[in-house]
Amino acid sequence: MEQQQIQLTVNGDDHTVRVDPSTPLLYVLRNELGLNGPKYGCGLQQCGSCLVLLEGTARTTCQLPVSAVEDRPITTLAGLSDDNGGLHPVQEAVVEEQAAQCGYCVNGVIITAVSLLEDTPNPSRAEITDRMNQVLCRCGTHARFVRAVQRAAGEMED
Ligand code: FES
Ligand code: FES
Repeated sequence: MEQQQIQLTVNGDDHTVRVDPSTPLLYVLRNELGLNGPKYGCGLQQCGSCLVLLEGTARTTCQLPVSAVEDRPITTLAGLSDDNGGLHPVQEAVVEEQAAQCGYCVNGVIITAVSLLEDTPNPSRAEITDRMNQVLCRCGTHARFVRAVQRAAGEMED
């Protein structure tokens, strides 16, 4: 398809990119905007490594055409920090619990957890595992990620 100008709002900044409108958002974020938090895992909307927040909701981006998100606010991992570069409580908690092993799934885990805590500020363990099951972690560090989400929920409540 012919290239077009697309307006994107990512992490509070406006961007104009010139791409084929059917290009998956993941490629535009990584290749055009240099935002490498979202990762390519399966390319099939199955693993969660490419998640971002789209209008506050976790969405996979590996098959999402960039034309579908024009002028809709997108937040990537890099956009979760505060204005002074401080980490989001979920990011802090993942570090504190030493939850990451290889780290490949961490983008998806953090985006999923942030989205969960927005909807459900004090989730049960079952609610956390249910949501976290949408992100594949080949290193099997799920228990630590659950603890990290519980820790973050406690921090955000204070
Ligand atoms: S790369 Fe998008 S869900 Fe796996
Ligand atoms: S920490 Fe390696 S895939 Fe999850």
